[in-house]
Amino acid sequence: MRELFEKIRSRTATVGVIGQGYVGLPLALVFCEAGFAVTGFDLDPKKVDAISRGESYIKRIGPERVAAAVSSGRFRATTDFARLRDCDAIMICVPTPLGPHREPDNSFIHATARQIAANLRPGQLVVLESTTYPGTTDTEVRGILEQTGLRCSEDFLLAFSPEREDPGRKDFTTKSIPKIVGGVDPTSTEAAAALYGAAMDRVVPVSHARVAESSKLLENIFRSVNIALVNELKVIFERMDIDVWEVIEAAKTKPFGFMPFYPGPGLGGHCIPLDPFYLSWKAAEHGHWARFIELAGEINTRMPAHVVGKVMQALNDEGKALRGARVLVLGLSYKANIDDDRESPSYEIIELLEEGGAEAAYCDPFFPKARKGRKHDVGLESIPHYDAVVVSTAHDQFRDPALYRDVRLVVDARNLMAQVPFGGARRPRVVKA
Ligand SMILES: NC(=O)c1ccc[n+]([C@@H]2O[C@H](COP(=O)([O-])OP(=O)(O)OC[C@H]3O[C@@H](n4cnc5c(N)ncnc54)[C@H](O)[C@@H]3O)[C@@H](O)[C@H]2O)c1
Repeated sequence: MRELFEKIRSRTATVGVIGQGYVGLPLALVFCEAGFAVTGFDLDPKKVDAISRGESYIKRIGPERVAAAVSSGRFRATTDFARLRDCDAIMICVPTPLGPHREPDNSFIHATARQIAANLRPGQLVVLESTTYPGTTDTEVRGILEQTGLRCSEDFLLAFSPEREDPGRKDFTTKSIPKIVGGVDPTSTEAAAALYGAAMDRVVPVSHARVAESSKLLENIFRSVNIALVNELKVIFERMDIDVWEVIEAAKTKPFGFMPFYPGPGLGGHCIPLDPFYLSWKAAEHGHWARFIELAGEINTRMPAHVVGKVMQALNDEGKALRGARVLVLGLSYKANIDDDRESPSYEIIELLEEGGAEAAYCDPFFPKARKGRKHDVGLESIPHYDAVVVSTAHDQFRDPALYRDVRLVVDARNLMAQVPFGGARRPRVVKA
């Protein structure tokens, strides 16, 4: 292992990153920019080809960063997993989705562990980055790697380090967000801390991989529960004719002990709607019900139906029915100003509108054509005629007052209309949802 530590210290270690998606590509770039030779692995030849051409397929990662990394000669991508043998450190950044009954699906992690096992050699460090329940690294990944006959801690090292990216955020980067690392033994923690410390601003070592796995889940559960809280309060305050947005603005002037969370049309993205259920599933195995997680999930998943209910009411006030109405949903991304529509509540809103007989359309500058998702395949393209407009995502482009010149009714799930500078221009009727 001394050789591994020396290679990390001198930045001559070869780093392999498996999965070149939203997490893996920026991670590979950070290590390349720190001076390491990096190989990006992916099953998807389109991603590998794009990287090889020096192109980026993720909007927030500028193509110039990929081009610079490739032309430095230190970054290459491949679908050939035999090259894992050349890597001193291997990071796993593959998806961890949910199955149809909200159960964890670790099959991508298992498949990747088998690919590594087929190429494992003594002296390597393997780090799992994919979000998962505690114990995955220490039992499932370790078990697959040890089927080779090589022993963890003696022949190879193994750790978990969670990805904490917040897509679209400008004030923190992959490099500057503190990196938690936890090994399955002290040497693994030390090696992983040395590796990430060579490329990132701050490393936070913890006592074990299970702690690192749990800390990531705590962060996401914290968000899910607090978002559910304000979503529930929104519905309650609505009945009392109180604007929840104004309440939050007032509460957040407290300089301590309060952190603002905002209501919305439901949860989206690859993390918050999915990850908490990894823990509730695992908790059941230990005879415990993760009630906060389940309750938050229940409240948050009901939000799209709440928004559609508000559309129905608002149309009704104008003597119209949802059936036959043309409704335009603004935004497919799950949050403002990013090109990520995974798990976006907009899809569910569109489906519910259509189930209610409306003719639904959407408009999103980031998605000229909607993609087929895990659950939803709305198959629509933007069209510009409508009886009501639903604000589902607060993209900056939707702040232009000219957009609303001919709009009569806006059902706003993001409080966006309060920020549109209408001046003396005609305002549409706005119903908060
Ligand atoms: N996107 C985020 O903001 C974010 C933030 C924190 C944590 N995470 C977690 O990070 C993990 C990865 O998420 P992501 O958003 O990068 O996913 P992604 O879908 O963008 O990328 C995953 C990549 O892995 C590839 N892949 C799948 N199976 C593979 C295999 N066996 N071998 C090689 N490549 C394989 C896919 O082709 C894809 O390119 C997940 O566990 C997720 O929960 C994501």
